[in-house]
Amino acid sequence: MAIALIMVGLPARGKTYTARKIARYLNWLGNNTRVFNVGNYRRELSGAAVPHQFFDPDNEQGLAARKLAAKKALQDMLLWFGSGGDVGIFDATNSTLSRRKWLVQQFTQQGIEVAMIESVCYDDDIIEANIQSTKLGSPDYAGRPVEEATQDFRARIAHYVSAYQPLEEENVPWIKIIDAGRQVLLNRLQGPQLMRVGYFLMHLNLCPTSIWLSRHGQSLFNTQNRVGGDSVLSPNGRLYAQSLANFVKDQPFPEIWTSTLQRTIQTAARVGRPIRRWKMLDEIHAGICDGLTYDEIAREHPDIHRRRAQDKLRYRYPQGESYEDVIQRLDPLILALEHRSEPVLVVAHQAILRAIYGYFSNKERRSVPHLPIPLHTLIYLKPNTYGCEEMKFALPPHIAGIH
Ligand code: F6P
Repeated sequence: MAIALIMVGLPARGKTYTARKIARYLNWLGNNTRVFNVGNYRRELSGAAVPHQFFDPDNEQGLAARKLAAKKALQDMLLWFGSGGDVGIFDATNSTLSRRKWLVQQFTQQGIEVAMIESVCYDDDIIEANIQSTKLGSPDYAGRPVEEATQDFRARIAHYVSAYQPLEEENVPWIKIIDAGRQVLLNRLQGPQLMRVGYFLMHLNLCPTSIWLSRHGQSLFNTQNRVGGDSVLSPNGRLYAQSLANFVKDQPFPEIWTSTLQRTIQTAARVGRPIRRWKMLDEIHAGICDGLTYDEIAREHPDIHRRRAQDKLRYRYPQGESYEDVIQRLDPLILALEHRSEPVLVVAHQAILRAIYGYFSNKERRSVPHLPIPLHTLIYLKPNTYGCEEMKFALPPHIAGIH
């Protein structure tokens, strides 16, 4: 069943960040999810550089323009549901009871389930950080001096405060996030999808930390182009373990996460930090193909070779896994990463890192099995409000042409 998530909250409460995070997570898990940001419609209709008076609840022209933007966003969202959307997120302040009632009615009469997500901040530091980090980078204030933009934005917030009606509707399912996740309240959530969103939001850390990703150093199986197995590092792989240790020696991550397989543990060992081994991080299970080379698979199991090439995301190795299975099993790991407030180095495997990297860099799910995650390359990810900053470092020894 289609679900509409209605964001609620004053400006600078992290709504857009939260909406995008939910969308990324649900898309990654295979639900067709999209954010409809009313601010974008408003900018299109009324221009980006409207002064704070536009948002004054007594400004009738402003009110009408804002309502029109909301209507346009709603229309598009309903059309999108009609074309097969699973979860639509209506991202706006939706700060009055009448606005929310109208939305609930519009969605429910189309048979769409509704839940609301309110972000409430009592902590001035969090609000201030949000003002600085997100709003001043917003298209509304592009090219405006910081001081002037900040003043205008504060005045805009004050207009919203004067008309704000906190979410208290008892009969609607909702999730309330207080002070960036210090408290999360759930009301009448039902069904696996909404429960999943609630569980995700309980993990979400609004001040995300950086994540380092690396495949293990070259393994003996890599040198032969064999899949799976539990082989040890090749001489080149051992050199990479040393390069990695040298490169990250001043990086402040307190622990390293590896799989339970020898090649990741050996790669992490020289870094000299506590290692946590996760079964979840073990490489995709190639089932009856485990231990074969890619050529052997093509020769001895042409059917597997062909079907996997046709649909690498969904194809499941006989007695093994598909990429979809891998994504499913990594769900708790993503939650653990989202929840962390300290950086971490994850040393894992090609398919596993494709899934994790695909999540953080918001890649289309279909592209996940094809993402390039080369050996001997360290990836740095720093999630931010609008996406994820990324750097890649190729470390010695360089090895070409190895899968
Ligand atoms: O070749 C190294 C490896 O980690 C294999 O163990 C694994 O089966 C494979 O990569 C996953 O990549 P692909 O899905 O492209 O075969």
